[in-house]
Amino acid sequence: MSILSFPDRGPWGDSRWRGNCSGHIYRELFEQLKPQSFCDPMVGSGTSIEVAQEMNIKAFGLDLHSGFDALRDSIVERIGQEVQLTISHPPYGAQVIYSSNVWGSEPHPSDLSHAIDDNDFHEKLQVVMLNQRAATVPGGIYGTIIGDWRRNGRYTSYQAEVISRMPSDELAAVLIKAQHNVMSEKKHYGRMKFPFIRHEYILLFQKPKQVMSMLSDLASMARQQSARLTSTWKAIVRTVLMSLGGSACLADIYAKVAENAPDRLAANPNWQAKIRQTLNSNDDYFAPVDRGIWKLAA
Ligand SMILES: C[S@@+](CC[C@H](N)C(=O)[O-])C[C@H]1O[C@@H](n2cnc3c(N)ncnc32)[C@H](O)[C@@H]1O
Repeated sequence: MSILSFPDRGPWGDSRWRGNCSGHIYRELFEQLKPQSFCDPMVGSGTSIEVAQEMNIKAFGLDLHSGFDALRDSIVERIGQEVQLTISHPPYGAQVIYSSNVWGSEPHPSDLSHAIDDNDFHEKLQVVMLNQRAATVPGGIYGTIIGDWRRNGRYTSYQAEVISRMPSDELAAVLIKAQHNVMSEKKHYGRMKFPFIRHEYILLFQKPKQVMSMLSDLASMARQQSARLTSTWKAIVRTVLMSLGGSACLADIYAKVAENAPDRLAANPNWQAKIRQTLNSNDDYFAPVDRGIWKLAA
């Protein structure tokens, strides 16, 4: 089943632990994936580990609250072996603040619930996912349970970011997990245009059976991201040329891009060179008309 819904959280873990996950979810995943070994690097109240142990799965539970930092410490080094399944359930969107609130007296700088902004969170969760991947046996599964979040009318898709930052050929399944007893946004529902979020995602990736070295895996991820950026530039320049009637001089293209793509520009100080490179290296998309004048290729 790709939709999981358990209103009851079962006897596992601690029902008073804020942001805990129903043990039935882990039970379902373990029944489906049949791992013999499992690690949860953000175990919270220990729900997943209790379920795993009951099912005779060798289980390792780690958490920042007990001295394991998934942003600094290697999971595989800490537990001393690779496992067949690693699943994290990170805090996101500052819905529940952990260090200084649920545990400890001070905010911990590595606590994902204290991420400064969305980008900081996306980067940190990617590090956690890579850490989990490195602790997974070849052919094993690594994944995360994560929701999306709307605040002040702005929707952030944490799950979409995870998918876009991890190797696309390793994505194995996307499950929907219904969320029960969600308080946030409920009281404003009557006034809201869009429904409040009542689900999370369970994203599962499969590490290839034949793994390259860690470095070449990372290099191939970087190439994937760079290809994505290149194709985004192609789409931007093409859209700009379309809006300029199908052909334009470079100065007009620069001006239109500056007007329409401020985020991209902020991220790339050499954006004018990037536009020229995009025009010059995609003859299926763009064709020169004259010196400094370009049109959409036929
Ligand atoms: C949503 S809770 C997990 C709840 C758990 N699934 C349960 O049912 O009890 C998220 C956990 O992530 C932990 N955490 C946050 N940042 C972390 C980090 N950098 N390394 C390890 N754990 C972290 C928090 O301490 C918190 O216990």
